[in-house]
Amino acid sequence: MKVDLIDIKHRYFDEHKIILKSINKLLKKGNLVLTEEVSSFEKRICDYTGMKYCLGLNSGTDALMMSLWALGIKKGDEVITTPVSFIASIGAIAHIGAKPVFVDIQDDLNINSNKIEQAITNKTKAIMPVHWGGRVCDMDPIVSLGKKYNIPIIEDAAQGMGAYYKGRHSGSFSTISAFSGHPLKNLGAIGDSGFIITNKKNLYEKIKLYRNHGMVSRDKTSFFGVNSRIDAVNAEVLSFRLKKLKSVISKRNRNVKLYRKYLKKNIIIPSNKSFELNSYVMFLVLCDKRDKLQKYLSRFKIQSLVYYGTPLHLHGASRKLGYKKGDFPKAEYICKKVLALPHHQHLNQKQIEFVANKVNDFYSKK
Ligand SMILES: Cc1ncc(COP(=O)(O)O)c(C=O)c1O
Repeated sequence: MKVDLIDIKHRYFDEHKIILKSINKLLKKGNLVLTEEVSSFEKRICDYTGMKYCLGLNSGTDALMMSLWALGIKKGDEVITTPVSFIASIGAIAHIGAKPVFVDIQDDLNINSNKIEQAITNKTKAIMPVHWGGRVCDMDPIVSLGKKYNIPIIEDAAQGMGAYYKGRHSGSFSTISAFSGHPLKNLGAIGDSGFIITNKKNLYEKIKLYRNHGMVSRDKTSFFGVNSRIDAVNAEVLSFRLKKLKSVISKRNRNVKLYRKYLKKNIIIPSNKSFELNSYVMFLVLCDKRDKLQKYLSRFKIQSLVYYGTPLHLHGASRKLGYKKGDFPKAEYICKKVLALPHHQHLNQKQIEFVANKVNDFYSKK
């Protein structure tokens, strides 16, 4: 039995008729840039998240960079974030010239909201929590800190589509939030894409121009922008897939529940609180002898992946930030233990049981 970690091809088998039909329809129309499909996708995201404005962009990375840029964050400013994320979270901060300032994580693998206040200085110009794996950060204290110090919050909700905290959708707690539509996400396109959401009209208007070269019209520009427009095909695919998002997340949650039932020992599955809905973009467990376990599973054609083995402060690119080993012990510990197991919506109970049994076998043999 082969158990894939990634759902991309399974999704395509399932949806190819509709997706190919949409592409065909769009190509026949002869217009693929900033079309009505893009506006319609943006409207659907607003309805889904309960926010006023959305802009479809090229990627989640661009969405982060543009959020920081629109808030006026610049060289010399500091942005507080987590050391456990994908490199793009801090790449975006560094690219606009600001400094990522890390705060260690807590047991749920997200930024430790109790430690953020200590990291605030007069250079702090934003707090950027990351909803790692699809679990919304502990937003109440983060929102309070933002208010207390008058610092805007930018949620890196790249993995947060469909995730909720106390009944509110991820990304809706902040001045502006960034999402990824990368094919590996629960709401994934058939190429790179991303979007921002906000309730602030001025931020929306700035980014709307910025994503399209700063052009007000063909011969009028207010400032130099970039090309970061979501394309019509991906906007249409995301609109279609948005209708399926709830079902995707509910099947992923069902599979995680099965793992909780079948997995016996040496594995920690971070628990969920009653007020959160984890969207489970990734199913992350903490395990002993992680690398050996991974090799063992691959012998049975079970795919797994380490997300990630290196915390952000210890990356080569972070060297000049001045952090060292030992600065964020929890993050460093987690990076040695974490493993993503297959849990996507196209896997059935037998496959989950098979994976769990192999994990259990591995530990009973040692
Ligand atoms: C937490 C996080 N932030 C940012 C990004 C960047 O998004 P994209 O790949 O769409 O640029 C990702 C993508 O994987 C991510 O997981």
